[in-house]
Amino acid sequence: DKGGYKHFMAKEIAEQPTVIGEAISHYLTQDGTDIALPAEIDFTKIDRLTMVACGTAFYACMTAKYWFEQLAQLPVEIDVASEFRYRDPVITKDTAALFVSQSGETADTLAALRYCEGKAEQILSVVNVATSSIARESDVALPILAGTEIGVASTKAFTCQLTVLLILALKAAKDRGTIEDSRYQELLTELRALPGIMNHALTIEAVTEKISRKLAEARDILFLGRGVMYPLAHEGALKLKEISYIHAEAYASGELKHGPIALIDKKVPVVVLAPRDGLFDKTVSNMQEVMARNGKVLLISDSKGLMEGGEGTWEAIAMPDADPVLTPILYAIPAQLLAYHTAVSKGTDVDQPRNLAKSVTVE
Ligand code: M6R
Repeated sequence: DKGGYKHFMAKEIAEQPTVIGEAISHYLTQDGTDIALPAEIDFTKIDRLTMVACGTAFYACMTAKYWFEQLAQLPVEIDVASEFRYRDPVITKDTAALFVSQSGETADTLAALRYCEGKAEQILSVVNVATSSIARESDVALPILAGTEIGVASTKAFTCQLTVLLILALKAAKDRGTIEDSRYQELLTELRALPGIMNHALTIEAVTEKISRKLAEARDILFLGRGVMYPLAHEGALKLKEISYIHAEAYASGELKHGPIALIDKKVPVVVLAPRDGLFDKTVSNMQEVMARNGKVLLISDSKGLMEGGEGTWEAIAMPDADPVLTPILYAIPAQLLAYHTAVSKGTDVDQPRNLAKSVTVE
C-alpha cells in the first residue's frame, strides 16, 4: 500500500521522521538521557572496529567511520563486502566486526561475516530484517526498525542505519571516556530533536522538484562533499544513477583538482553538499573553482552557509540548522529527493529500476 503516494520510494522518504523517532526511542532510555543497548555491547573490550557492507549500507559505514574516529577515537576499517571477503583481511582478536545490511541476506556481506567468525572478538550487525541470516549469525544484531522497505533504492533504511550507528558511536565514546558528559548530553538532545528537524527538511520537496526538472536534462552529474558529507556525496550519486540512469560520480571536494575538475563545463551540474561546519570554507573554495570553469553549482547548505557562500551559484537548497555531527542524516533528504524527482521527471520506473534487485543474494 503506497498510502496515497505515487511511489513506495516517496512514501519511504516521507516516513523517515517517524521511523527515525522510533529507532531513537528504542535505543535511548525512557527519559532520553542515556543510551540503552544490549549489555554485550561494551567498547572497553575492543580496540578496533571493522565495518563491512554493500551499496548504500556501505555508505552508512563510511559515514560512521567519521563518527567512531571523531567521537570515540576508535580505529575503524571499512570495506565493501565483495572486496573484503577475498582480500585476506587481517582480523585481530581485539576487533569487533560490524555488518550493515537492510535485507540481512546480501550474499557478499554474509560471506564476509562468516570469514570473521572465530577471528573477531565479536560479530555485530545492524539490520532491518531481524529474522535474516546476517542477524541470526551475529553475536548481537541491532534492528534499525525502519519497517518494510519496498523501493529498490534504499532511503529510510539508510537514515535508520545512520541513526543506529551514531548511537553506537556515542556509546563507544562514553565507554572509552573520549567524550565530555556535557557534549554527550548535548548530542542526545540533538538526536531527540532530529525527527522534528527531518520533518522540517522535507519541506524542501517543492524546490528539489523544480531543480530536478533541470537535472533530468544532464548526461553527467557530480556530487562533492568533505568530511561526513563525502560519504553522502557517494550516496547521492548512487541514488541518482540507480533510478534516473544519469551518470553520477562523487568526489571528495579536495580531490577535485587531482583530476575530476577536467570534467567541468557548462553542461555538468555539480551538487555541493556543504552545511556550515568546520570544513565549509574549504568546500566553498573548491566550489568557486568549479564556477570559475562555468560549472553549474547546486549548493545545499543552511541559511548561514547560503548567505556566506551562495553567491553566483546555479541553484541552492536551504536546509535547517543542525549540529554538524547529525548533518549526514539530515542531508540524506535532499540527496534522496533530487534522485526521486529527477527519475520521475525522466519517467523511469522509480520503485523497480532496470537491472536491479532489492536483495542481492548471489555474488
Ligand atoms: O540489503 P542490503 O542493505 O545488504 O543491500 C545492500 C545494497 O544492495 C543496497 O544498499 C543497494 O545499493 C541499494 N539498491 C541502494 O539504494
